[in-house]
Amino acid sequence: MLVNDLKHLAFIMDGNGRWAQRQNKKRSNGHNKGAKNARTITEYCVKIGIKYLTLYAFSTENWKRPKIEIEFLMKLLIKFLKKELKTLQKNNIKFDTIGDISRFSKPLQQAVLHVKKETSQCTGMTQILAINYGSRDEITRAVNRAIKKGKKVDEQDISNLLDTSNFPDIDLLIRTGGDQRLSNFLLWQNAYAELFFTNTLWPDFSIGELETILSKYRTTSRRFGAL
Ligand code: IPE
Ligand code: IPE
Ligand code: MG
Repeated sequence: MLVNDLKHLAFIMDGNGRWAQRQNKKRSNGHNKGAKNARTITEYCVKIGIKYLTLYAFSTENWKRPKIEIEFLMKLLIKFLKKELKTLQKNNIKFDTIGDISRFSKPLQQAVLHVKKETSQCTGMTQILAINYGSRDEITRAVNRAIKKGKKVDEQDISNLLDTSNFPDIDLLIRTGGDQRLSNFLLWQNAYAELFFTNTLWPDFSIGELETILSKYRTTSRRFGAL
């Protein structure tokens, strides 16, 4: 299915831990499975012509989790980036991130920069990983940049000061895992996004279900306040 009017698709990939716990496995198993699914969904999105795909992988609030889970997630991110590079290059996908990566370990920061650099010439789709991302943190950083400039700002200026300055606003946001909330994700950029919530846990989210959501999206009239 080709989707021409959908430039930017975003996912809140929620439910990894519950997926594992339901099978009496450790939460880390769910994160592993979730990372694999991110790859599957990414490869499908590039095939159907989506230009920007943003994946919420670690929020500014996720630091509140037990140290052991955070450590696992940091290792998984490094592993994911290393493996992902081949997939990205094969599919002509450019890699980018949003969020404040300065809080991460040096090896993780280096891995991010390496994948960004190695895919900088790719033109098929941009995969944007939201890591140590929180919308309020992003807006706060943007406001401080604006204050430094010392000029009045308009809406476009604010968009340009956000981590997403190079990307269009979200057209479609999908959250898996059953909760109907934004969890501090792209509050500015989702202003006119279509929102879809599914009970499916992220490791189980399939291309088939994505297709169903895309069909619904295509029949939605997006008025942006007009008639
Ligand atoms: C989403 O899955 C992944 C991250 C937030 C890192 P969770 O880890 O939140 O899984 P649940 O919601 O506890 O099932
Ligand atoms: C949102 O999931 C963040 C990511 C998917 C990375 P959470 O599991 O952190 O969200 P809450 O705490 O249920 O709102
Ligand atoms: Mg969760």
